[in-house]
Amino acid sequence: MSTTFQLDTSTSRANPTPAPMKRLTVPKIRRRKVDGVTEEPLVMLTAYTARQAQLLDAHCDMLLVGDSLGQVIYGLPSTIPVTLEMMANHGAAVVRGSYHSVVVVDMPFGSYEASKEQAFESASYLLKETGAAAVKLEGGEAMAETVEFLNKRGIPVMGHVGLTPQAVNVLGGYMARGRSDSEADKIVSDAKALDDAGAFAVVIEGVVEPIAIATTEAIGCPTIGIGASAKCDGQVLVTEDMLGMFERVPRFVKKYDDIAGMIEKTVETYAEEVRDRSFPGPEQTYQPKK
Ligand code: KIV
Repeated sequence: MSTTFQLDTSTSRANPTPAPMKRLTVPKIRRRKVDGVTEEPLVMLTAYTARQAQLLDAHCDMLLVGDSLGQVIYGLPSTIPVTLEMMANHGAAVVRGSYHSVVVVDMPFGSYEASKEQAFESASYLLKETGAAAVKLEGGEAMAETVEFLNKRGIPVMGHVGLTPQAVNVLGGYMARGRSDSEADKIVSDAKALDDAGAFAVVIEGVVEPIAIATTEAIGCPTIGIGASAKCDGQVLVTEDMLGMFERVPRFVKKYDDIAGMIEKTVETYAEEVRDRSFPGPEQTYQPKK
């Protein structure tokens, strides 16, 4: 089982975490919103690898092993082809690389929608294989019974409403939601149904600000916004998007850096040095012992 592996500080390429911090818990995350108010917004980023988790962990409350890894890591056209095994492997790596954040693993398309029993089987597999604390699934009212079923059986669930990428074939694209009255009402009632069912937090994606505000005010658990304004109880972004790994990102992404440019420049230098034989130099070359 993947969780039997720990980061070995003698073989890991990264420095050991100097002072492993105590891991946050799902109830602590839920309790950050009191009587409708979240004093300190919740910080969540996606993570797919152990090293990425190590670098993000101390700065985040939650690390999301998002099924966006389908596009970001595997170059797939959408999240639809992502499998439970992919989520389990990346989830286990992120748990190995973190000490502090609550790790939430996405349930991939096709692993939970058929029945609450199917959802329990998939979610329990993910928690056993990864050591993560919670799962996330997409959908509102239609998933409320499943969320309650999982929660009552020991599996904390984060919901996800608004723009739900696994439903791209029904929605017809990745455009912002909540512009019509019927869409807006549905987003709020979906989030309410998840909250009533015991979700500990709800992601609101790609939703116009007034509806993000209405949803955040309507539910007891924290909302985590992505393209849903600063008025949510927390924020999440795909880490590679905010680091500037990709040219094309959704409008709601702020690029905090230009990692792609940095990689290109560095690789160009490496290629030049290999071609002019200045790499490897004396420091990187073994000589016989004298
Ligand atoms: O898969 C993912 O990364 C997500 C976030 C964008 C919320 O669901």
